[in-house]
Amino acid sequence: MNVRFDRAERLRGEVVAPPDKSISHRAALLGAMSAGTVRIANYLHAEDTTSTLNALRQVGAHVEVRDGDVVIRGAGLRAAAEPGEPIDVGNAGTLMRLLPGWLAAQEGKAFTLDGDASIRGRPVDRIADPLRLMGASIEATDGRYPPFVVRGARLRAIDYALPVASAQVKSCVLLAGLLAEGTTTVTEPAPSRDHTERMLAGAGVAVRRAGCDVSVTSTDELDVDEIAVPGDLSSAAFVIAAGVLVPGSRVVVRDVGVNWTRTGFLRILQRMGAIVIGDVEPLPEAGTGPASGRGTGAVTAVEPVSDLDVTAGPLQGIVVEPDEVPLAIDELPLVALLGCFAEGETVVRGAGELRVKESDRIAAVVDGLRGLGAQIEATQEGFVVTGDTGLRGGVLDAHGDHRMAMLGAVAGLVSREGVEVVGMEAAEVSYPGFAEDLGRLG
Ligand code: S3P
Repeated sequence: MNVRFDRAERLRGEVVAPPDKSISHRAALLGAMSAGTVRIANYLHAEDTTSTLNALRQVGAHVEVRDGDVVIRGAGLRAAAEPGEPIDVGNAGTLMRLLPGWLAAQEGKAFTLDGDASIRGRPVDRIADPLRLMGASIEATDGRYPPFVVRGARLRAIDYALPVASAQVKSCVLLAGLLAEGTTTVTEPAPSRDHTERMLAGAGVAVRRAGCDVSVTSTDELDVDEIAVPGDLSSAAFVIAAGVLVPGSRVVVRDVGVNWTRTGFLRILQRMGAIVIGDVEPLPEAGTGPASGRGTGAVTAVEPVSDLDVTAGPLQGIVVEPDEVPLAIDELPLVALLGCFAEGETVVRGAGELRVKESDRIAAVVDGLRGLGAQIEATQEGFVVTGDTGLRGGVLDAHGDHRMAMLGAVAGLVSREGVEVVGMEAAEVSYPGFAEDLGRLG
């Protein structure tokens, strides 16, 4: 589906942020792992998170949607069912990397996971390595890609240093750790989103933080009845960027999750000179609580939420350093777009992970924005944008990547000639109703 986005005069009004994709995946998974019934309020009904509900049905969870809420009667921690067919994860990398953490502990059972063309190009060796160390067997295509088979076993706890800062891999190991004998510790090279830790803490699991280490101990059951999903900062970021860029705009985004491990983009915006006002969770200082990121002690179960009030204004080019990358990973394409309108150069470093997202997002962003008139160069692990050029406009092909489709839409609102996005339907993966939300503000 091709959709045109024309230059906007100014954006005014409010939108409610769609439910958080990362938290929805995790909530459904925890529901399926629990032995009781879990009600999930404000679940994201989008393609990725629907793939999760279907996958969980395949492994024995009973899943219903009631008045928009998701109600799951779980299979129980050690009682996932072996499906007759391969599990289809669709386009959902988070599902592909988290679900095996649970399945790896299903003794004597085998599970095949597969997905769409983009998923078949995304590496799973990063979860296969730790799960093998814990005792499971994983057979992947060409040693590292889906489709892959997980053979469950009695797991042993491990201490695992993540080679890359990845919340997906951390979460996979922690979920497996719930079912492994002893205490499993994951060491992160840099903090990444900690929704899994917070949700497990809310389900009565003893999750502990000590600086870069996070630990869980084997558990017999999860104690969780209800999970409320906050709005998704990564989706809200597209509306926020539009509000910052379209001159004369004033936009409020309601109910956004502002866990500090997700708000790196807001800190980047602030450094660029944008004004976004909200009650955002402060960065923890090392060694202080509530434990999250680099704090020390029992992990907090709270997911803070705030409205964000956005005003358009002039921007400065900045350098995004490698340690900021995991906390803004899905928003970095927007940093490239903002850089086109900032004074001076904008540089993103240490973001090689972007090459293994739903598309090679370094190549996609650089080619896509260049096609609209940007002066942007790819580097091995990021990009360099020459500022103050604005955008001419033209055609941007999303190549099936939801965040590229939304990037093209926002680019259209600020380009001189507008942008036609090829494959706008990709936005359904994470933000159904995105184009309508933008339209209502225009
Ligand atoms: C996610 C973590 C990030 C992010 C992805 C969702 C999650 O991936 O890019 O969209 O829900 O844990 P990595 O953990 O692999 O960096």
